[in-house]
Amino acid sequence: MKLLEVKNISIYDTQTKNGIIKDISFALEHHRNLGIVGESGSGKSMMIKGILRLMAPGMNASGAAYFEGEDMLKMSAKAIQNIRARHISMIPQDPMSAFDPLDTVGKQMMETLCENLKISKKEAKQISLHELERVGIKEASQVLRKYPHQLSGGMLQRCMIAIAAASKPDIIIADEPTTALDAITQSDVIATFQRLHTQLGTTFIFISHDLGVIQQLAQDVLVMKDGKLVEYGGTGDVFHHSKNEYTKYLVDTRIKLTRSFEKLMREESCDA
Ligand SMILES: Nc1ncnc2c1ncn2[C@@H]1O[C@H](COP(=O)(O)OP(=O)(O)O)[C@@H](O)[C@H]1O
Ligand SMILES: [Mg+2]
Repeated sequence: MKLLEVKNISIYDTQTKNGIIKDISFALEHHRNLGIVGESGSGKSMMIKGILRLMAPGMNASGAAYFEGEDMLKMSAKAIQNIRARHISMIPQDPMSAFDPLDTVGKQMMETLCENLKISKKEAKQISLHELERVGIKEASQVLRKYPHQLSGGMLQRCMIAIAAASKPDIIIADEPTTALDAITQSDVIATFQRLHTQLGTTFIFISHDLGVIQQLAQDVLVMKDGKLVEYGGTGDVFHHSKNEYTKYLVDTRIKLTRSFEKLMREESCDA
């Protein structure tokens, strides 16, 4: 059985009647990470929110999303909550703003774990320390006492990953996990995801407009444009042998950007 099977999902805005996601199907295989790419506004975040039933009111989803054979779009509110608490974790776009500025990171992390896993505060603290260490945070007990503004974007992103991984979920969905980070922090975060994939056997869905990130992390890729699926297949095939004009355009843009960046860096180092 597939880990997750999404069939003909469509999402529309009931007020404006605008179709936002149009008839997309894909499947997640055990241990094969999936990348979802596409320009900003193409519907990447909305599709995932639809599958996990986290859409804003006024949005309507149809189709089916099977997890362990059960359609998440049709199950009870309690059942979908249980799936989100234990089986499919979501790292939202912009984790920095997902933390409440008025509480310490530790308090927020422990509250989430107590609620999701129905465990005591003491257990939640132990798990928090362990998970923070697993994502490469040193002196974790001090980090737990910090307020969000006292930590860098990269540290907050790691804390978010630690919370998502704490329930040992089958799937972690990370929405633009490296977009707000500088290049060095990006490569640390990518290495952290790779470690979790190997150590915990978690299967990931990475949403990103950065094809380089997807190439490093995902075995399969789904390309979206204007709410539609443009192309879907093995990452190497899609990125290097695509016949689709839009995919070729995305890949060419990426190559041009990388080349001009490298040229700039060479000129800078010549000047120095
Ligand atoms: N809460 C919302 N209400 C109405 N339209 C929305 C809402 N959120 C997103 N959209 C629209 O849905 C489309 C897809 O957005 P989104 O999924 O955020 O794109 P992406 O994640 O690919 O950048 C966009 O046209 C956006 O304007
Ligand atoms: Mg988005």
